[in-house]
Amino acid sequence: MADLHLVVDRNGGGLAAQIAREVREAVRSGRLGPGARLPATRDLARDLGLSRGVVVEAYEQLVAEGVLESRTGAGTRVAAGAGRHAATEPAGREGEGRPHYGHRPTSPDLGAFPRQAWLAAVRHVLATLPNDALDYGDPGGVPALRRELAAYLGRVRAADVTPDDVVVLTGMAQGLSLVLHALARERGRDVVLAVEDPTSGRQLPLLRRTGARLVPVRVDGEGIVVDDLPAEADAVLVTPAHQYPTGVVLSPGRRAALIAWAARTGALVLEDDYDAEFRFDRDPVGCLQGLAPGRVVLAGSVSKALAPGLRLGWIAAPPGLARAVRLAREEFDLGSPVIEQYALAHLIASGGYDRHLRRMRREYRRRRDALVGALAEHLPRLAVRGISAGLHLYAVTDPKTDDGTDASGLAEAARAAGLSAEVATPALGTGEGRPAGLVIGFARLPAHRVREAVRAMAEGVRTR
Ligand SMILES: Cc1ncc(COP(=O)(O)O)c(C=O)c1O
Repeated sequence: MADLHLVVDRNGGGLAAQIAREVREAVRSGRLGPGARLPATRDLARDLGLSRGVVVEAYEQLVAEGVLESRTGAGTRVAAGAGRHAATEPAGREGEGRPHYGHRPTSPDLGAFPRQAWLAAVRHVLATLPNDALDYGDPGGVPALRRELAAYLGRVRAADVTPDDVVVLTGMAQGLSLVLHALARERGRDVVLAVEDPTSGRQLPLLRRTGARLVPVRVDGEGIVVDDLPAEADAVLVTPAHQYPTGVVLSPGRRAALIAWAARTGALVLEDDYDAEFRFDRDPVGCLQGLAPGRVVLAGSVSKALAPGLRLGWIAAPPGLARAVRLAREEFDLGSPVIEQYALAHLIASGGYDRHLRRMRREYRRRRDALVGALAEHLPRLAVRGISAGLHLYAVTDPKTDDGTDASGLAEAARAAGLSAEVATPALGTGEGRPAGLVIGFARLPAHRVREAVRAMAEGVRTR
């Protein structure tokens, strides 16, 4: 069944017309192909929090237009002749009509983006911002946002940060790039960077592009193995709150050892705090930066909390490095767009950001619990590892009961069932002798659809 990701403004009026417009657009753009099955009116109404009659009215309108077809017993589908793929994709192709939850297991639920709150924040900014504020801003970020972020990081992540230590960036990715460039400049040579193994495969190209030589360092049940860190490393990139992808937390002993190692060797710790807002079993552990502000760069963004497409992130760095990154932005690109920065500052100051996080924490917890339960029921040979947190789950096959389906086969079966999944990336292709891990995203999968998707995945594995 297609997951529609419809955007409906409940206060906008004409709800049936809004739904019809969104579905029509999805068909026109090819997002919904001919033959794709739509959710039952009852299910869609529940997902959207609307009455069923509104959805029935929208479907009827689209059937009348020839966009959808409705047959008793076969549900409602996109009509064979509708949309941009009409000529090339006949109805009933294999895999069609399966739900799609995006291809990035770490993506948040984009359908839950707080549009009304963001709109209110932008409206507030546009109504109150003096004209001069629309000029080139401080390349390190507008002061209002740096102030809000410093307070927020202190309150929520136990960071030790002043507004001057904060640099606003287009995301954590830009933060890591510019920190590594600045470090290479300071040291007068390419940087040696220790990275966790396994790690986030998507980050490797950007790390390499900085000229850094990457050294993989093993991760076990307590996080990165500090004793294995190379003495010549200039920096180490870690995900202490929720290791990506294995989902373990850096243990108290390792946290202390890592800080001691950095103090001893003069290396910098780059703390990727990518999903720390989402810890479900208890409050998240405070960030490392708060323990050693002179040695740690804390990097964060709204990519998990709100949406990656906003491209809004930050670093909190020791003063010399913060200055160097701010200068890099001044010289490279003159800084980030200001309206979005003021809007985020307003959202945080007004409490809207925290409210959204509280709501999403409850929702993601429900979705993760449903996924863990469904995997235990239908794929018991997959052992779930890591803490109850984040937007993805990490699982390994149990070698004792393994039937030979490797992680890539499992990932394929998961994707064919509409789940967002990938094989964990060993840093630099190492990782021999370890069970290959499977990463499954649950953020975009409504809890009531989880069992069906996992059952389809298990069926896919059986018939491979
Ligand atoms: C582990 C991890 N770190 C960092 C990032 C980059 O985030 P940003 O969008 O802030 O650049 C991602 C994005 O998926 C991620 O998964």
